[in-house]
Amino acid sequence: MVNALIVYGTRLGATASTSEEVAKILREEGLDVSVVNTKKEKVKDIARYDLIVVGSGIAMGKWMSEPEDFLKRFRGELAGKKVGLFVSCGSAAPTPTQKPEEVAEARKKYLDDKATQYSLRPVALGFFGGAYDYNNMPWWASMFMNAAKKDLMASGAKETRPGLYDTRDWDAIRAWARELAAKALSG
Ligand SMILES: Cc1cc2nc3c(=O)[nH]c(=O)nc-3n(C[C@H](O)[C@H](O)[C@H](O)COP(=O)(O)O)c2cc1C
Repeated sequence: MVNALIVYGTRLGATASTSEEVAKILREEGLDVSVVNTKKEKVKDIARYDLIVVGSGIAMGKWMSEPEDFLKRFRGELAGKKVGLFVSCGSAAPTPTQKPEEVAEARKKYLDDKATQYSLRPVALGFFGGAYDYNNMPWWASMFMNAAKKDLMASGAKETRPGLYDTRDWDAIRAWARELAAKALSG
């Protein structure tokens, strides 16, 4: 059995539901999967895992501190394992006026540079959109998101229930997870 661990950090919830979907696909592909929200639980040991997926929401151009701490703490051990990194961010669902170079720059900053920073060579990097629940948002997020609502709509967000806007491409997330499973199972 191939054992996988998904470790994530979220503020607004997108990285949690993306992690659950990735876990579902990995299980369908035959992996044994544990999912840990780094804000609620601290991982003590990663020895038994063959594949480690680390996901973070992005705010103000940065990863959350808890998943980043995980990378820092286990960087030595992670170098000997298969690793996948992904982020949930606004930049993955750009507005029509946003330049492709800006999107490429964000992708590099949040994923490639993060891998380099911790001397990792991930088997997969996932650049996914976010979800914005206007019914249930911390005050600091609603200040930012009320101002950004026009941009959010322009980026193709779908209102999946009243007040909940989702910019994720679920097919791309599932395809990424299937690719990850194939890499984990390839020995
Ligand atoms: C206050 C705030 C700041 C944000 N800053 C950025 C940013 O710098 N870059 C970006 O691409 N997305 C940014 N976003 C969008 C988030 O990345 C998006 O909401 C994502 O869903 C966050 O992940 P989470 O839902 O798992 O917390 C920001 C959102 C908020 C509310």
